[in-house]
Amino acid sequence: MRCLLAIESTCDETAAAVITRDGRVLGECIATQEELHQQFSGVVPEIAARAHLERILPVIDTAMKQSAIAPSDLEAIAVATHPGLPGSLLVGLAAAKGLAVAWQKPLVGINHVQAHIYACGMGSKESIFPCVGFVVSGGHTTLYQCNAATDWEYLGGTIDDAAGESFDKVAVMLGLPFPGGPQLAKLAETGRSDAIHFPRPMLDDYSSLNFSFSGLKTAVRYRIAGVGKADWGSISLSSEERSDIAASFQQAVIDCLVGKSSRALKQTGLKRLCVGGGVAANQRFRIQLQDACDRSGIELKIAPRELCTDNAVMGALAWERIDLGDFDDLSLDVKPGLLRYANRPNA
Ligand code: KG4
Ligand code: ZN
Repeated sequence: MRCLLAIESTCDETAAAVITRDGRVLGECIATQEELHQQFSGVVPEIAARAHLERILPVIDTAMKQSAIAPSDLEAIAVATHPGLPGSLLVGLAAAKGLAVAWQKPLVGINHVQAHIYACGMGSKESIFPCVGFVVSGGHTTLYQCNAATDWEYLGGTIDDAAGESFDKVAVMLGLPFPGGPQLAKLAETGRSDAIHFPRPMLDDYSSLNFSFSGLKTAVRYRIAGVGKADWGSISLSSEERSDIAASFQQAVIDCLVGKSSRALKQTGLKRLCVGGGVAANQRFRIQLQDACDRSGIELKIAPRELCTDNAVMGALAWERIDLGDFDDLSLDVKPGLLRYANRPNA
């Protein structure tokens, strides 16, 4: 049985998994850092890196023990080396290098964004390529033309905030705990998505496949606090107003995501859309994207919900390189890149 160990530490999730060549997960462990970043309403890079350092070896140990395989049975050690937070990435890479030396196993660095899309095909024997790949997470909102697992072309992406980041920031405005995306989606269930017409930034920009969410965030802020007013302390919203704002904001984001991904499909002529990243767990987004794809004869593959947010199982992407004998050596380094422009040529 062919197995690899995959390590993930790009942002605030410390994760390891033992995965077979046919995609079976023999062992998996994820240590989330939500509670450490909650008081700051966002990920604090230094805290994230220190927490990875404390957790990485116990997490790997747990995944290995669960898999019941010996290190000598591993074919390689895969680690996400880009893009991500520099300190966080370095901890995962250092652990992977240490184990590669100790266990005498080859190293394989993987692209975290490509792994998010690869997750869409896990559990199925058919290849998902070629496709339009759409990564929608806390750090990315990016469209790619994916010719093969690691042969990608950048089509467009956010010029400011990522979609997940805007969910998290608006959630803070509504008094929801970090990470706010799932909480905001829950609040939106009781609201009216057409109660307030928030802008759909760049949706009318037919010259690019780019997104922008920072102005939408400001529009929500003005709706809550009033234009030019900074006194948040005195603002009290009724529960109906809160859920209407949540539902209307969520709909504005979804319209942009569905609109631009549909345009990417038309532009490339590709007939398959693969969507991964934390925001792909959003139920309303999933439903509306499915409707749009059904209407235009597009095959939609969204990552299974448990593989949308950061995890090590999607590190199965490494098999694509291992099968080609394409390994890294100990000079492998992290490439944090700019999260927003991840995987853009020359980024
Ligand atoms: O992929 P991920 O774990 O980390 C990054 O690579 O960024 O994505 C986390 C992001 C957060 O912004 C979180 O709020 C968002 O995904 N998210 C959601 C939902 N679940 C997670 N956003 C909207 N609706 C959800 N159900
Ligand atoms: Zn991610």
